[in-house]
Amino acid sequence: MDEMQAARERHSVRKYTTEPLSEEHIKALNEAIAQVNSEAGLNARLVTDEPKGFGNLILKTIGFRNCVNYIAMIGPNDDSLNEKCGYYGERLVLLAQSLGLRTCWALLCSKKQVEVGEGERFSIGISVGYGEDDGFQHKDKPVEEIADLTDAPEWFRKGIECVMLAPSGRNKQPISFSQKDGKVSVHYKIGNLTRIDCGIAKYHFELGAGKDNFEWASE
Ligand SMILES: Cc1cc2nc3c(=O)[nH]c(=O)nc-3n(C[C@H](O)[C@H](O)[C@H](O)COP(=O)(O)O)c2cc1C
Repeated sequence: MDEMQAARERHSVRKYTTEPLSEEHIKALNEAIAQVNSEAGLNARLVTDEPKGFGNLILKTIGFRNCVNYIAMIGPNDDSLNEKCGYYGERLVLLAQSLGLRTCWALLCSKKQVEVGEGERFSIGISVGYGEDDGFQHKDKPVEEIADLTDAPEWFRKGIECVMLAPSGRNKQPISFSQKDGKVSVHYKIGNLTRIDCGIAKYHFELGAGKDNFEWASE
């Protein structure tokens, strides 16, 4: 399955079967995480068979069940961490989806179970496992609130189409996009959660638009 199809089929899944992750899936995830860590200077980790991270009362109340595997998005505690975790975490989410696994980002996971090095921070967790279901399509904001598509080039339309598929904290879809002369800008109210959302949305935009068709405007 290619990444675009994975983006179309992905929905947050909070209920998992009790089947342990297969060796093959653990290997594939660990290889992808190692690649992400070396590209982005992160220290993300796959945590398996650990029930406490996603077993807290808040997440149980929201509907998480049998979630014992997750990716801990960890890295140097600087201003760029959350956006990086969003961008590279979504790459891992789409890989997991294409392997037949299901995922859910969760800011509210408990972070105490994972050791974090000095100067590092555990930004966010991503649950991963075999889904009890495939999730469901989220409600979208009107596309006009995300971007002005009047007379927009095809690549920009495709980028925005893919952004609409992206997960976002509380499904707020808070990132909007504009373009001029092949340069694309993102707009959002700054906050920790929105920086993660921004990284995720940028990953989706690049996937839909094609990286070669545009440049990011400097922020
Ligand atoms: C940064 C971020 C944080 C999130 N935190 C939580 C969370 O703590 N608990 C939860 O149940 N879902 C969480 N989600 C999942 C969103 O609720 C979900 O992505 C959104 O409702 C859109 O649905 P979809 O992912 O099925 O498209 C989070 C998503 C993102 C991107």
